[in-house]
Order: sequence, then structure tokens, then C-alpha cells
Amino acid sequence: MGHAAGNRLAGKRILITGGGTGIGRSCAEFFTAQGARVAVAGRQAEPLRETAEAINQERGSGTAVAILGDVSREDDAERIVREAVEDLDGLDGLVNNAGVFEPGGLFDASSEQLARVFDVNVRGALLMAQAAARRMIERGEGGSILNISSTLGSRPNKGCTVYSASKAALDNFTAAWALELAPHQIRVNGIAPAAVDTPIHHPDPEKRRESLERMGPMHPLGRVGRPEEIAWAAAYFMSDESAWTTGAILDVDGGINARNV
Ligand SMILES: NC(=O)c1ccc[n+]([C@@H]2O[C@H](COP(=O)([O-])OP(=O)(O)OC[C@H]3O[C@@H](n4cnc5c(N)ncnc54)[C@H](O)[C@@H]3O)[C@@H](O)[C@H]2O)c1
Repeated sequence: MGHAAGNRLAGKRILITGGGTGIGRSCAEFFTAQGARVAVAGRQAEPLRETAEAINQERGSGTAVAILGDVSREDDAERIVREAVEDLDGLDGLVNNAGVFEPGGLFDASSEQLARVFDVNVRGALLMAQAAARRMIERGEGGSILNISSTLGSRPNKGCTVYSASKAALDNFTAAWALELAPHQIRVNGIAPAAVDTPIHHPDPEKRRESLERMGPMHPLGRVGRPEEIAWAAAYFMSDESAWTTGAILDVDGGINARNV
């Protein structure tokens, strides 16, 4: 795992969707290294189990729990949050990280693709935020919600029109929920990564390496990101260090959005 240990998130109870792989897993590892307890939720049992087990082995049993469920299903979203609150004995943070990517431009888009991508990236994030914010309001202790967006949400490229639009919708949610939940001291922020080395680019590591190698030089810093580089930024939003930050969307992108202006 190799994350620096510290106490930036001491006592925090955080639910991470899509927490068994990629950015979500890295968040789970770094948050627990910083003193949090986490629930990792997702729709694939094996990576979730493996993630929770590895964390519990390194940080002590009960540090991580795995919850199986599909964020785009209303009953699952409710249950995921309920189980997380029970297992963690409360909820301080939600990372809306579960997401799906599908390439394709205007003429590749279809109602089916729109439904598949928006169901997870938009509806799933909405259902999870609703369920989590209800719990946080009931408990009256505030909280923090983080939406993992994409640089494509504000500046799309050719060839992934539906995915980009789903992240634009998520960015709008971030601002709207920040305003609506501020009276409850629930903060809502976003992170917009550029290309990060995770299975979303290809399940086969060799094919993924080829496509990420092509993408590296497009970033002013000359390489794609590592999942932990998103987790480090996410920890800021989950911690009290960001107590006066809400409605913000942070580009963690190797400089790519600066170049596109
Ligand atoms: N990797 C990148 O280059 C990149 C860039 C910008 C944004 N993002 C965003 O980062 C987030 C994490 O992606 P990643 O790169 O770690 O890839 P990933 O494929 O490893 O992670 C996505 C996770 O979401 C889970 N998931 C998908 N649909 C789900 C559902 N309906 N219910 C529950 N879980 C579900 C998957 O099982 C997986 O664990 C996504 O929202 C993605 O859009 C990634």
C-alpha cells in the first residue's frame, strides 16, 4: 500500500463508491492511513472484499468494510448508505466516485448509451447524495460530499460526448448541492482529474499501458496521473482542512485544463 501514515482524517467515517478499484481504492487506502474508517461500496464483490481485507490486515480489523450494491438502483443506494452508517457508526463523508466511461461522438451516441452512462455517473451520484445527506442532516453534525468528475465535464474532447455531458451534469450538481446543503454544514465539492492510470481505460493492463502512454504527453506535466494523486486531493475535501470550502471543483490534471484555455 505504502501510503504515508498520519492523522488528517482521524475519527472520520467515509463511504467511497467504486471503492474496490482505481481511484476509489486508492482513496480507501490513503484515508485509512490517515486515521479514517471507510466503507467501500460497488457492484463487483471480489475487488471490494480484497480491498477491505488488505486494509484491515494493515490497519486493524474494522477499519474497512465492503458493501455490495449498484449505486444507480434506488433501493441499493439507500441500503448502501444505511449499512455504512451502521457499520461505521455514523457518516462524515461520501465520495461519489463510482463511474463508467464509454467512448463515442455525436453519431455513436444512442438512447441506450445515454441511459447506461447517465444512470451511473449522474443518477447514481444523485441517489447516493440524497441518501447520505438525509442521514447527515438527521444526525446534525455536518459532513462532506465529494463528486469525482472529469476535466471533460468543463472542456470536452472529440469522441466522448455522452461521458463528458454526464460529468458536466455532475459539476452542476456539485454547485447546486453545495448551496442547498450549506445551512446544514454539509460541504459539497468536486475533483476533475485528467487521465489517471486505472482500469477504466482498459481492463487488460498491457492495452491500458499502451493507451496511457499515448495520453501522457498531452498533459503539460508530461505524464498521466496516478490514483493516489487523486486520493491526496480527496483527503483535503474529506478533512476539516476544507471546513470553509464548498462548491469548489479542483482540477487535478497535470495542467491539461490550463493549456486548453
Ligand atoms: N481514470 C481516469 O482517467 C479518470 C479521469 C477522470 C475521471 N475519472 C473518474 O474517476 C472515477 C473512478 O474511476 P477509475 O478511473 O478509478 O476507474 P475504475 O473503473 O477503476 O473505477 C470505477 C468504479 O466504479 C464502479 N462502478 C461502476 N458502476 C457502478 C455502479 N452502478 N454501482 C457501483 N459501483 C459502480 C466500478 O466497479 C469500479 O470499481 C469515475 O467516476 C471516473 O469517471 C477517471
